[in-house]
Amino acid sequence: MKRILVTGALGQIGSELVPDLRSRYGADRVVASDIRLPPGDPDAEGPFEVLDATNARQVSDLVRRYDVGTIYHLAALLSATSEEKPHVAWELNMGGLYKILETARQARAAVFFPSSIAAFGPSTPRRRTPQDTVQRPTTLYGVTKVAGELLADYYAARFGVDVRGLRFPGLISYTAPPGGGTTDYAVTIFYEALRHGRYACFLSADTRLDMMYMPDAIRATVGLMEADPARLVHRNAFNIAAVNFTPAELAAEIRRHLPDFRIDYEVDPVRQRIADSWPESLDDTAAREEWGWAPRYDLPTLVADMLEKLRERLRLPAR
Ligand code: SER
Repeated sequence: MKRILVTGALGQIGSELVPDLRSRYGADRVVASDIRLPPGDPDAEGPFEVLDATNARQVSDLVRRYDVGTIYHLAALLSATSEEKPHVAWELNMGGLYKILETARQARAAVFFPSSIAAFGPSTPRRRTPQDTVQRPTTLYGVTKVAGELLADYYAARFGVDVRGLRFPGLISYTAPPGGGTTDYAVTIFYEALRHGRYACFLSADTRLDMMYMPDAIRATVGLMEADPARLVHRNAFNIAAVNFTPAELAAEIRRHLPDFRIDYEVDPVRQRIADSWPESLDDTAAREEWGWAPRYDLPTLVADMLEKLRERLRLPAR
């Protein structure tokens, strides 16, 4: 049976996708890879390889050696880091995707590509953004996402590569922290609330964005890749939505569990500008109709679960 390769396996999504794929398909069938080694025994849970996704030779050697049939290509820089290092972001986000698609074409492998709400820009309809609409992002990260969507569609149409993608909203998780994203506030707030009872938010109180709890994001990823290809009209990439809130609304929900929690606002102009260029909410009708997408977590269940799991993780006493 063909194997599955995950790039960026130590990142925010990869840290939870790899164990999920291993429990579904078998530990040995899932090869985790990243630019660095994990702490501890890298092969403890299944095969691990150090891989630079921008190195075409390394990518194709690995795919051949493990007889890979599906690649979840998660190695990329997030939005704020991409603004700081636009050249690196282009090299990794675009260059990496191109090499993965080329390898997939030669190896006849399928590819999953994570796009983002960042693939839209200020001229996009802001509320319930349609699946097919204007995409003129103003961040380098967004440029790589929309270009990535187009390249992925090109490889599907021209070469028959089975490549599929999702436009993720901000992802909230307790396993691996995100790094360099604009939606990271919605993760850090939980750590700070539990540890210090207060948080200084870098986005303004009324910045409304779509968000999603990681278990839903993992289900969406696997659900899309297992969907009947005959039903897919869109491929790259589907709008998906789950939860929608502002920092003030998230803080209010956290306060239902931690009544003394306090939020202040120290707005970072770079990340605020990025957030303001993105839609407030996406319309995910196409994902619901074409492959049955439906989220399980809303804001109250997300916050309750996040606080409980993070408390265990941080070894804080239960309340
Ligand atoms: N969560 C991502 C970021 O903030 C958006 O895709 O960069």
